[in-house]
Amino acid sequence: MKNIIVSRPQSGVMLITLNRPKALNALNKALLVEVATTLKDAENDAEIRSVVLTGNERAFSAGADIKEMPESGMPMWAESKRLKSWKTIERFPKPVIAAVTGWALGGGCELTMLCDIVIAGENARFGTPEVKIAAFSGDGGTQRLPRAVGKTRAMLMALTGEPIDARTACDWGLAAEVVPTDRTLDRALEIAGKIAEMSPIAAQMIKAEILMTFEKPLDEGLSLERKLLLWQTEDHDEGIAAFVEKRKPKFKGR
Ligand code: CAA
Repeated sequence: MKNIIVSRPQSGVMLITLNRPKALNALNKALLVEVATTLKDAENDAEIRSVVLTGNERAFSAGADIKEMPESGMPMWAESKRLKSWKTIERFPKPVIAAVTGWALGGGCELTMLCDIVIAGENARFGTPEVKIAAFSGDGGTQRLPRAVGKTRAMLMALTGEPIDARTACDWGLAAEVVPTDRTLDRALEIAGKIAEMSPIAAQMIKAEILMTFEKPLDEGLSLERKLLLWQTEDHDEGIAAFVEKRKPKFKGR
């Protein structure tokens, strides 16, 4: 991998570090393909139960790579490998925690919105500055931002392009917690580790069910939730047995 660093810092957890520091981790096509390929591998690897995505202290990511040249007459944003990579990231079924320090702009901000839990360092800045280059958040931002922060705040961010600080992002629902900048990755790994100890089936089911909120009308979501209650898993039996026997459960993902 040329644009990301992949590691397994603790049991059950994969860490993906965006690694184009000179370009503030701008999301060129190659980087997006690498993230998508890595997530596909993680999806098929039973040992991986949660993923942490991070950048560096200066930038989580400054967004789509504005300097990337268009290919075959197609605008760079609409290039099929880019779009497929975004789809793979969006459909990844295991929990993803973003550890965000520095800039999370444009596609970088959109990437944080695809993560399930966002931990913001105090120096994090979230924004959708595309209007300044006469563009818009076309990787899901125009749809996910208002769902996350509400219409008027989304309009304020998208029409002025002005970034918001970490505390505002947390108050507006773009981040779950704000922590000291140098604690951001540790806190994200701590959460990922906690999730990795849970039943992977339960974690994935919870992720899928909560995401239904954004995709389905309430009555449909509620009836799907009811149906999912019928699922029986060995992990569920183990969870109950461990509670009754006052011991730590051993979840096998079955
Ligand atoms: N694409 C490509 N290169 C980028 C980049 C981007 N999105 N953002 C920063 N860089 C590059 C700069 O060109 C610069 O490279 P050089 O050293 O070779 O000149 C390097 O990263 C460092 O950047 P700056 O010197 O500009 O750093 P700064 O601290 O002065 O400013 C910044 C930081 C405010 C983030 C500024 O770089 C900036 O405004 N970047 C652009 C942010 C942006 O517009 N993002 C949206 C992209 S469009 C998008 O994402 C569309 C979509 O969803 C479909």
